[in-house]
Amino acid sequence: MTPGLFLSFEGIDGSGKSTQARRLAGHLLDRGREVVLTREPGGSPGAEEIRRLVLEGDPDRWSAETELLLFTAARRDHVERVIRPALERGAVVVSDRFADSTRVYQGITRGDLGGLVDRLHDAVIGIEPDRTFLIDMPPERGLDRALAREGAETRFENFGLDMARRMRTGFLDLARRLPGRIAVIDGDRSEDAVAAAVLKALP
Ligand code: TYD
Repeated sequence: MTPGLFLSFEGIDGSGKSTQARRLAGHLLDRGREVVLTREPGGSPGAEEIRRLVLEGDPDRWSAETELLLFTAARRDHVERVIRPALERGAVVVSDRFADSTRVYQGITRGDLGGLVDRLHDAVIGIEPDRTFLIDMPPERGLDRALAREGAETRFENFGLDMARRMRTGFLDLARRLPGRIAVIDGDRSEDAVAAAVLKALP
């Protein structure tokens, strides 16, 4: 049986990673793989319910600690019900965001929760993608694109340019520390050029 493969996409809001995740999933499907395209927060029915709690409403709705627990609870359900079973079947899982988003958003930019993020991950999640594509984008461009999207999921987009800059730096620092897993892809070019770079960085 073909072994499962776990791939994730990361980046600041508006980086274009969701488009790229879809494109890669389509490519792998065309090559005959079973592909599970999924996203976080969410990806399983329970985690999608938690998604609404964390992404909608007042930016001050949750403390940083409560928010971290909600994201982690959602991820645990997603891993249990979707990701692990898919990998055990030999499927490719393509996830639009995974634990690196928590490391950056909750661990660095929402209070200094880095230690707690790592302890929680070790205790209840415990897996990492085989390869993570960090779609890197200048924060000014990313924010324009994120704000152009209408919708109710605005708790994070409302944080503004300064926060987007810190998040980008956080992702790039993480990639520097984990070069074997995280491939940095320049996202500020045509969709086709980004997609080609993603394919080149497949494990
Ligand atoms: P989403 O609508 O998926 O936006 P994007 O297209 O930018 O991925 O919203 C996800 C938001 O949740 C995004 O602002 C990042 C944030 N987030 C966290 O803060 N922590 C996490 O662990 C995850 C998975 C997402």
